[in-house]
Amino acid sequence: MQKPIIFSGMQATGIFHLGNWLGATRNWARLSSDYDCLYCVVDLHTLTVRQDPKALRQSARNVLAWYIALGLDPTANILYYQSHVPAHAELAWILNCYTYVGELNRMTQFKEKSAKNEENINAGLFTYPVLQAADILLYRTHLVPVGDDQRQHLELTRDVAQRFNQAYGDIFVVPEAYIPPMGARIMALQNPERKMSKSDDNQANCVFLSDEPDVIIKKFKRAVTDSDNQIRNSPDKPGISNLLTIYSCVTNRTMEETCAEFKHTGYGDFKVKVGEAVLEALRPHRNEFERLIKDTAYLDGVIADGARKAQALAVPTLIKVKEAVGLPI
Ligand code: TYM
Repeated sequence: MQKPIIFSGMQATGIFHLGNWLGATRNWARLSSDYDCLYCVVDLHTLTVRQDPKALRQSARNVLAWYIALGLDPTANILYYQSHVPAHAELAWILNCYTYVGELNRMTQFKEKSAKNEENINAGLFTYPVLQAADILLYRTHLVPVGDDQRQHLELTRDVAQRFNQAYGDIFVVPEAYIPPMGARIMALQNPERKMSKSDDNQANCVFLSDEPDVIIKKFKRAVTDSDNQIRNSPDKPGISNLLTIYSCVTNRTMEETCAEFKHTGYGDFKVKVGEAVLEALRPHRNEFERLIKDTAYLDGVIADGARKAQALAVPTLIKVKEAVGLPI
């Protein structure tokens, strides 16, 4: 690899939503040409919540097909499943021994997820950020493009990398997060104080990329706004601000341009226009996804090729780590 390295990933569950696209994958595609990139479907992380085996296998494949449909060319980027490269789990074990329980206890995602899943607070949920650190550090990654909700996990990754390097020398690159200036935190449509999330019980909160066009328009029409009639980007107008952000992202406009465009528009028309702009931006990607998901042989080839390339890059780092800590090689 010649250029600086990007690593990022997405869980293998469920369906891509607008937040995943605008906060993450859209930037992956944009940054691709200046970096050597690995984009992983993090299927091991997904096991922290009980999954239906058949559905998980299918949704992991869907995520990979969406990666390609959203503009990640598998000949220029390494696209693969985390579980196909055993070095992730091996490095995670070693890093577990260099991460403190106190640090993991502070992770807000752990607190949120364990509050939601009281009957299954498993050890994997607790050590989830260590596996994430292993994903990143294994490839001597420079930049990690993610949404705002991953900020804390990235900080932990940096801390663990620095701790390890202090003990053993320059083994890991200490990575930087890339959090986009716009779209890093897309909010729930019915509750704009909360982020859009695929595990939301209320489906109206979340726009899935594979929702039917009429469903997407309906979700935007029903989006919560507020009681006055001004279209402004402001913390006291979270619903309107979220819609302005979504519109700016999908039309590649600045926030100022978007605000000027809708200055004299009523809320009803505004919401329909946002929905239509989202549909328009998504259309080519949706068509591409439909085509790809049927092309079994092609996807199988991409998956096998990605695993081979990722494995070849991961092993030398793992060997260095093993040497450093004193494990037999
Ligand atoms: P995951 O699968 O929850 O989300 C994938 C990406 O989408 C971003 N995202 C959002 N961005 C804007 N607004 C939202 N409402 C929104 N919801 C999600 C996330 O920030 C993320 O970038 N732990 C990670 C997966 C992971 C990973 C990694 C990421 C595992 N190992 C190594 C980077 C590097 C996660 O659960 O993402």
